[in-house]
Amino acid sequence: MSDGGEWAGPATVNTGAGSQRISDFFESDDFMGFFLGVDIGTSGTKTILMREDGHILAEASQAYPSYHPKPLWSEQDPEDWWKATVKTIRSVVRKSKVKPADVKSIGLSGQMHGSVFLDRHQKVIRKALLWNDQRTAAECVEIEERAGGRKKLIRMVANPALTGFTAPKILWLRNNEPRNFDRTDKVLLPKDDVRRRLTGELATDVSDASGMLLLDVKKRNWSKTLLSKLELDPSLLADCYESEEVTGHLTSAAAKQLGLTTDCAVVGGAGDCAANAVGTGVVKSGVLSTSIGTSGVMFVHSDEVEVDPSGRLHTFCHAVKGKWHMMGVSLTAGGSLEWFVQNLCAHLGRRADPYSVLNQEAANIRPGSEGLTFLPYLAGERTPHADPDARGCWVGLTLKHTRGHLVRAIMEGVTYGMRDSLEIIKSMGVPVKQIRVSGGGAKSGLWRQLQADVFGQNVVTINAEQGPAFGVALLAAVGAGAYKNIEEACGATIKINEKTAKIQKNRLAYDKRFPLYQNLYRSLKDDFQAISEIEQ
Ligand code: XUL
Repeated sequence: MSDGGEWAGPATVNTGAGSQRISDFFESDDFMGFFLGVDIGTSGTKTILMREDGHILAEASQAYPSYHPKPLWSEQDPEDWWKATVKTIRSVVRKSKVKPADVKSIGLSGQMHGSVFLDRHQKVIRKALLWNDQRTAAECVEIEERAGGRKKLIRMVANPALTGFTAPKILWLRNNEPRNFDRTDKVLLPKDDVRRRLTGELATDVSDASGMLLLDVKKRNWSKTLLSKLELDPSLLADCYESEEVTGHLTSAAAKQLGLTTDCAVVGGAGDCAANAVGTGVVKSGVLSTSIGTSGVMFVHSDEVEVDPSGRLHTFCHAVKGKWHMMGVSLTAGGSLEWFVQNLCAHLGRRADPYSVLNQEAANIRPGSEGLTFLPYLAGERTPHADPDARGCWVGLTLKHTRGHLVRAIMEGVTYGMRDSLEIIKSMGVPVKQIRVSGGGAKSGLWRQLQADVFGQNVVTINAEQGPAFGVALLAAVGAGAYKNIEEACGATIKINEKTAKIQKNRLAYDKRFPLYQNLYRSLKDDFQAISEIEQ
């Protein structure tokens, strides 16, 4: 993500009936308004301004840092999210030259599971702990014990306790920073802290709330049973809404700061995974989406609550009203390549885009990287291992290997990791008729091909590339009444773009190597744990 990079759409728009001036369009009877989608991601915030037919008038992004005070800790400053939101909204409104009163509603998406701890004056108490923070292993054990065992916990909240989820973070605060815990009056998710500053409301949506491990996912409301077993006061949590519901309107201070009006509504929005699924049209059974951003996500829609009994996949509420989804998450997917570029390729950045140089080098290497395998566990791993001690490594290095091999092995390792999730999804009998690839990883032709070959199934891209920001802009349009429901909004705006067919020879090469990839984790698991114990 670039620092403050922005792009403004053309002064004329394609309305399907040929080109038309924007002013003509929004003076017509059909005009419903404009909608903002804001995605508070891990590397930065991305904002788009969308017309109800899905046309994007402008987009802007703003990067911010993460902090890693200890090896597997990961934190951010909520103030940075707010500043990035203000800057990017102001930017898209200015660039697109729309009338402030025509911006009808805002949808918020964000990195899931992060914890913003607020005191009773709504002051942020400490930096937020993020989804990829691994400090809470002891608290996960505590939660399972208090719940009466893993099975009972899964029955209450549809998921096991995983280090990245929010409930373990709250218990970590209680166990390790009791003074901060005593001051805590509310715990909000990242996008919901931005909502608080936009509307003054303390609210969340069911998809993001599912990742707190405190939601009765089936009933789509907080689990009073688990809260009481954990001795947590329900008043710590925000009010829960469906993703398309209006949770409030801009305060006059926020409207003034953003250059908008107090009539502008803010809808529930969604965690970034469900938001991305909406933004890629995954709102019905049979369609699966993969997203390679900092994390890697395999996501399937489900009409009913289906739970992986061994807890490897997450079962969360979908951003589609009354529906659910299952997903597997790899913690450092694009994040592995980003780590490689930042730490080992600093010199490349001065000359060219390091990603395209590396992509080219990797494309010249044979499938299988001539015996080099990468385990992408740089921040531990969630699906399928749920192991905070897992570490990243290349196995099989020889003198023959070059930088291109290292990079290709990273891309292959990340894709194998996502195949782990795909295999679990298929083993549960979930139909996978179409795979839609998205996120930064889908922009690389090589990574699209790798996905088709490693998954053994053709993959497609869609016309909308803004993923989560687009998904929540569509939810904002539904909330404002521009569409009957999110299925209708997706149907009207999302089309298949390009198909990447699997190459049979490559597929066989990967089928042969995938078991080896899986076995390497089993072989190294105890050593990973030993490393963690020594380094503690
Ligand atoms: C989902 C998850 C990540 C973050 C990244 O469970 O932890 O995908 O939401 O933004």
